[in-house]
Amino acid sequence: MSTERPDPAATSPVDPLVPPSVPSRRTFIAASTAVGGAVAAGGLVAGSPPLGAEAAVAAEAAPGSRVSLTVNGVRHTVAIDNRTSLLDLLRERLGLTGSKKGCNAGACGACTVLVDGRRVNSCLTLAVRLEGTEVTTIEGLEKGDRLHPLQQAFIDQDAFQCGFCTSGQIVSGVGCIQEGHTGSPEEIREWMSGNLCRCGCYVKIGRAVEQAAGRK
Ligand code: FES
Ligand code: FES
Repeated sequence: MSTERPDPAATSPVDPLVPPSVPSRRTFIAASTAVGGAVAAGGLVAGSPPLGAEAAVAAEAAPGSRVSLTVNGVRHTVAIDNRTSLLDLLRERLGLTGSKKGCNAGACGACTVLVDGRRVNSCLTLAVRLEGTEVTTIEGLEKGDRLHPLQQAFIDQDAFQCGFCTSGQIVSGVGCIQEGHTGSPEEIREWMSGNLCRCGCYVKIGRAVEQAAGRK
């Protein structure tokens, strides 16, 4: 009679309820771990870093500068990300929310401000380039309690409805008057054409610019 013990692995009892093609619990766990490991390894090797980490790395790497500029007569020195637009600097850092963000793409004029007396779309202007400049926003037009003549003319002519475009229209109108482009209603229309008004107040806006130009 043989005394050799049978190999337990080779003789493990077969569960009569499990069909032979179904993997055992042990093989299932082993396979799952292998697949999970492969996915994790794939993520480490070829995938993107987790959401948030990428932004953090980009923010760390963002080049910054200090810029000094005068806004409505007040000197400011601020440390900024070099990609900051003048509009975002005004609205988010200096709290001057009169300039509006309409399209943020240079198409509507809602963000118009004066830089050294010239009209610019502040959404398209990098703040870092404005070292030593003088910026005038809608908040800087009134003198004490006295509205700028063009602000008053907008009220007199009823030149706004929702008002979203109004600060850009007024600042642009001031630039238009200073540039001397107010010889006729057609000339005003031409030189104010970068400022859109979705409420369609163009006729009254034109009249307001004419009124203020007459008082210049
Ligand atoms: S917000 Fe700047 S042009 Fe529209
Ligand atoms: S008043 Fe509404 S967009 Fe001009």
